[in-house]
Amino acid sequence: MKVLVLNGSPKGKYSVTLQSVLYIKKHFKDDEFEILNIGQQIRKYEQKGECDKVIEKIKKSDLVLFSYPVYTFIAPSQLHRFVEVLKERLDHNEIAGKFMTQLTTSKHFYDVTAHKYIEDNSHDMGLGVIKGLSADMDDLLSPEGRTDLMNFWKYVKFSVKNNCFDSREATKTYERIIYKAPSCDSKKSEEYDTVIVTNCEDRDENLKNMIEGFKKYYPYKTREINILDFKFAGGCLGCFNCASDGKCIYKDGFDSFLREKIQSADAIIYAASIKDHSLGASFKRYDDRQFCNGHRAVTMGMPAGYILSGDYSKESNLKTIVEGRCEVGHNFLTGVATDEIQTKEGISENLNKLAKTTSYALENKLVMPQNFLGVGGTKIFRDLIYLMRGLMKEDHRFYKKHGIYDFPQKKIGTRLKIDLLGMLMSIPAVKKNAKGKMNEAMIKPYKKALLKD
Ligand SMILES: Cc1cc2nc3c(=O)[nH]c(=O)nc-3n(C[C@H](O)[C@H](O)[C@H](O)COP(=O)(O)O)c2cc1C
Repeated sequence: MKVLVLNGSPKGKYSVTLQSVLYIKKHFKDDEFEILNIGQQIRKYEQKGECDKVIEKIKKSDLVLFSYPVYTFIAPSQLHRFVEVLKERLDHNEIAGKFMTQLTTSKHFYDVTAHKYIEDNSHDMGLGVIKGLSADMDDLLSPEGRTDLMNFWKYVKFSVKNNCFDSREATKTYERIIYKAPSCDSKKSEEYDTVIVTNCEDRDENLKNMIEGFKKYYPYKTREINILDFKFAGGCLGCFNCASDGKCIYKDGFDSFLREKIQSADAIIYAASIKDHSLGASFKRYDDRQFCNGHRAVTMGMPAGYILSGDYSKESNLKTIVEGRCEVGHNFLTGVATDEIQTKEGISENLNKLAKTTSYALENKLVMPQNFLGVGGTKIFRDLIYLMRGLMKEDHRFYKKHGIYDFPQKKIGTRLKIDLLGMLMSIPAVKKNAKGKMNEAMIKPYKKALLKD
């Protein structure tokens, strides 16, 4: 089997993920692997001619293997960019029918959304999707992890041989009405500072007008920052230079820009056109570069909303990412205003609702407890930072200060109570006596709480 490996890690041959691919290569000698360091050499591969050469290689291969690290809910911005260029360059159905699969390493923080992003885009290109493998960074170091890799590859070979893949129609884009922004001349209150972060291009007419529409309905002053105007030296390199002191290896000033111009605001609105099941590669670069914040929810408590042009209701993965980001960041999600609705009034109403809810959240300092998307993600970070605390000192301080180290073994009182209860319940007479009274007993502390202010 001819396998074309698209290595999305910006670390090229030093990629941890790639080592797992090399392990597979070593053990499956009858398969032929060609590895392209797409992530590291994105400046080269985003050129039309070079991208076309990759398309030719895909055509000659039996399987495309996306090998990449999970970066901030999705893939590194460099791979994101490549997917963008690849989809732009492909002629209709040019590589349709080829197989693809993926292999990632990560700490399993939102590995699901990363895999879904690659799957959704593969479906758009007509590729036959074979379920990928999401490994922990350290899995290759254990015999079990290596066995998983062997089993994964056997399964991939079986799937190719037996035509077992998942195929779906490419996502359709729907015609939408041109939204005209209502004129805005009302004076805005200076009480709160709201930043609108966008990657709006000239051609994003609806998005531009939706931003203006939001401003009309919003009672507070807004600042608009177009991240396309920032001169990024490049996407995150995964070098971990920022891990100890928060300083990025690039000297393009992004760290201070982020802290002074964006994180200093009271509320944040993201505005983008949906592209390739995401907010586009330029937004991804902006997201990845925020790695200089470490794993700290530095905008905790800041309400966040979205203005999105595109078929958001059909993008279940993007929805999870939008919600997950707010949950993990402790940001109240004030809404997602889209232009899916086919009337000008409907779009205006969406923007008005977003404006009203954002104002309410700001004025009332609204925060909600995290749901599964936030609790699950935070627990992964909690365990990671505790282990890495010698290096990630800022994160460690933050986690101690905010009580994030909520390890269950520290809850000695609760554990002793449950142990005692377990002991009592193992006595037949006590168990018999307790029959039918458990629910009543369990609700007692809640009843007490009801009596409090
Ligand atoms: C910018 C950046 C973002 C990351 N985001 C995530 C993430 O969202 N989830 C996760 O589990 N790990 C995340 N990681 C950890 C990497 O996925 C992990 O270190 C991976 O094994 C690196 O693989 P590589 O050496 O092939 O690049 C991130 C690392 C970096 C540098």
